[in-house]
Amino acid sequence: MYVCSCFGVTEEQVRAHAAAGACTPRQIAATSGAGTDCGSCVRRIQGLLGRPCPRRTPQATPASSAPAAPTPDPRPAPLTATR
Ligand code: FES
Repeated sequence: MYVCSCFGVTEEQVRAHAAAGACTPRQIAATSGAGTDCGSCVRRIQGLLGRPCPRRTPQATPASSAPAAPTPDPRPAPLTATR
């Protein structure tokens, strides 16, 4: 079934590009042109990709060996009585 009628790109072609590593509609457009004319197929392409791009998935940050710097207390220092 065609997903992009402007360029005659099928769902199978989009899936093949995705299997080859494309994970954004822009990457699909770069290889096939799909989505670069009227743009009405971009959401459909995005739906076919359907998964988060591995390169965009947030990476776990390694635990730092240095302790975090203490944050200063924003409250004013208490007044002391001087009688
Ligand atoms: S249907 Fe894909 S650019 Fe028009």
